[in-house]
Amino acid sequence: PTIAVLNGPNLNLLGTREPELYGAATLSDIQARCEQVAAGLDVQVELFQSNHEGALVDEIQRRRGDAGIVLNAGAYTHTSVAIRDALAAVQVPFVEVHVSNVFAREDFRHHSYLSDLAAGVIVGCGVDGYEFALRRLAALTRV
Ligand code: DQA
Repeated sequence: PTIAVLNGPNLNLLGTREPELYGAATLSDIQARCEQVAAGLDVQVELFQSNHEGALVDEIQRRRGDAGIVLNAGAYTHTSVAIRDALAAVQVPFVEVHVSNVFAREDFRHHSYLSDLAAGVIVGCGVDGYEFALRRLAALTRV
């Protein structure tokens, strides 16, 4: 089974971007960690990052049939009906991840267009959230 790990805008800057909020790990560190964890879970991970809303919609559409999606949509979480609709269309179980605790930040980060469709939401656990989400989706594929 394949689990996609999709990242939205500015997450290519992880490691250098506001490290007090997002920590020191880079997206390639996350990739390495996810691949390591996936190997032990007998799943395949495929990482994708884009700063463009439409590119994320295209990628979600391509994921139809996958076992799961780990999704950090970045700021599009709080704005994008298009990403919500793509997730609803493909019917792939997804876990929403935020590295920072969005509820401890500005009010505009408290609302997500995605959460009510998600199989789970992981917030404020740093980049460990990706691993937790991957483990959860792998467990769901086994039930
Ligand atoms: C984020 C939280 C969002 O509010 C923000 O726009 C991001 C990153 C997180 O991982 O904490 O880009 O999704």
